[in-house]
Amino acid sequence: MTNKYMIFIANWKMFGGLNSLNTINSVNRFLKKFKYKKLIKIIYCPPSTLINPMSVKLKNSKISVGAQNCHENQKSGAFTGSINTSMLKNVGARYVIIGHSENRQSGESNELINRKIKSALKFGLKVIFCVGETSQERKKKFTNKILTKQIKLGLKKIDNKKNILISYEPVWAIGTGVIPKTKELLKTINFIKKKFKNYKVLYGGSVNPKNINQLKNIDNLDGFLIGGASQNSKKFIDIIKKTYN
Ligand code: PGA
Repeated sequence: MTNKYMIFIANWKMFGGLNSLNTINSVNRFLKKFKYKKLIKIIYCPPSTLINPMSVKLKNSKISVGAQNCHENQKSGAFTGSINTSMLKNVGARYVIIGHSENRQSGESNELINRKIKSALKFGLKVIFCVGETSQERKKKFTNKILTKQIKLGLKKIDNKKNILISYEPVWAIGTGVIPKTKELLKTINFIKKKFKNYKVLYGGSVNPKNINQLKNIDNLDGFLIGGASQNSKKFIDIIKKTYN
């Protein structure tokens, strides 16, 4: 049971069409009545196609909308298929996920991530900054080293603890159904918090209504980034409820 402020982020990845917007109705209804509503923040990160309709739908709600990625260029330009942070802000996004391992795996470097974060902050978007080690790096016991490097380079010349949420997402835990052991996760979160003081740190990777009972015991966490389970509002609500149970 927790009684502290927690952030719950829904990362829909490349899923969902206009019909999916209805799934938020029940989350909205739930939030209005939830005993601990003052303690929680919910952020939905749908695919770019749904940012605007979702933010219109949530206009009078406490739920915020975020994007899943952005282009690093602060000015508009000839970048076919890309969207920059001022455009995301313009259509209703208030947050943006940057550095997700699915994008790192397709070639996103720490330097590029740093540019993206700067651009997001410049246009008033809050950043959900993802970091995490691969299973190979974990086996070699490189986790702390990798996290330090990713965070240091990602946040190079940036000092904005208020508007950056660090999300620790071990690559081997994403979409696999496997989560770190409690002791291991506690240690890693403590390591990040000690090294990068005053940042909020979330956990992401296979969070679901079953393992939340284990994850909620990690009392230095500030919230969860939820992928697969967030597309189903019943599961998403269940995760939130159980966190406070
Ligand atoms: P998952 O995804 O919950 O489906 O593992 C988490 C994420 O990648 O943000």
